[in-house]
Amino acid sequence: MIGNFPVERFRNIPTPFYFYDTELLQQTLEEINCQSQDEQFHVHYALKACSNPLVLDIIQKAGIGADCVSGGEIKAALEAHIPANKIVYAGIGKTDEEIHFALDADIFCFNVESLPELEIINEIARSKNKIANIAIRVNPHVDAHTHHYITTGLEENKFGIDHTLLSDALNIAIQMNNINIIGLHFHIGSQITDMSAFQDLCVRINDLQDEIEAQGLHLQHINVGGGLGINYEHPNHFPIADFEGYFKVFRKNLKLRPHQQLHFELGRSIVGPCGSLITKVLYIKKGINKQFAIVDAGMNNLIRPALYGAYHRIENLTSEKPYQLYDIVGPICESADTFIKDYKIHEAQRGDLLAIRSTGAYGEVMASNYNLRNTLKAYTSEFINQLTE
Ligand code: LLP
Repeated sequence: MIGNFPVERFRNIPTPFYFYDTELLQQTLEEINCQSQDEQFHVHYALKACSNPLVLDIIQKAGIGADCVSGGEIKAALEAHIPANKIVYAGIGKTDEEIHFALDADIFCFNVESLPELEIINEIARSKNKIANIAIRVNPHVDAHTHHYITTGLEENKFGIDHTLLSDALNIAIQMNNINIIGLHFHIGSQITDMSAFQDLCVRINDLQDEIEAQGLHLQHINVGGGLGINYEHPNHFPIADFEGYFKVFRKNLKLRPHQQLHFELGRSIVGPCGSLITKVLYIKKGINKQFAIVDAGMNNLIRPALYGAYHRIENLTSEKPYQLYDIVGPICESADTFIKDYKIHEAQRGDLLAIRSTGAYGEVMASNYNLRNTLKAYTSEFINQLTE
């Protein structure tokens, strides 16, 4: 056993595969429940980060709700026994079939991203003789200070209804017979480590609430989305995100009305640190000025480095030899299939096992079978520990 990795057991399992440290996941969930005990706080897990049923099962048992962005995710949440009344549903392109499905399932709330979408939800709800609970997703123009691909709350982003148009949108929504407006929804971006971005969001929400109340409207809930970042550089030192600091920002800065509930949609911070992509070194190839460690995982298994230039710490689990520099690359026929360049790991040889760390979020879910590579497997530590060596 190295760190939390049962390396000897890994040797009997075909690579590549995702490994989920269930103990860490459980500790993370305990920390969340401990830091969000306020009666008005409700945490939903953003399934888009990882919808592996084994992971969902553990999250469900911690009593956390679900944040979904498709009919498929709602189905996965229900199959994991997350109660429908704890499911919120966002997404700018909800299809008619998905809206039917969500209404039939009696989910807690639709996070509505445009007026045309609202009209369709109203129409479909009317055809079913149902009332749809909705929150309006507001684009608050708050800068999350994160990668532009995962920033969502700026004017240029496609999400939500611009905060300057909110009053008008609410006036229209109120007229709709099969719509019940229960809240406002926000999400400014992902991998946010600068808490001042959440503070800015609170200030914006406070102003909007004052405006709305002046219009005579009182809302049951505020949903601040997700976005809390994790420490990709030092996963061993900081395996659990700063939930204490995160919840404190909202407790301190958001002027929640006495009757109001506060919802959170956390994804990465819940599952990110507990996942690793385990891959085997196939070849060490010497180049002119560098050497390549060619591994059996590719960008089709983990696309974050290729897509966002994302950093994931990589460790050689089966060597203690002196460090050497490598470009660690996958087998896909694209130069972008590079996990990291000029990176130090313990000297590697064919057959060594590497762990690509902090890949529990947006790892397995974003995998494809590009190049017709085998479907990826995923195991929990619980499962692997039950295997005989
Ligand atoms: N709520 C909404 C409306 C969202 O769009 C997202 C993420 C979340 C909650 C969860 O955010 P989190 O707590 O995980 O930051 N594939 C990218 C991340 C995309 C995030 C999309 N939205 C990546 O690999 O970094």
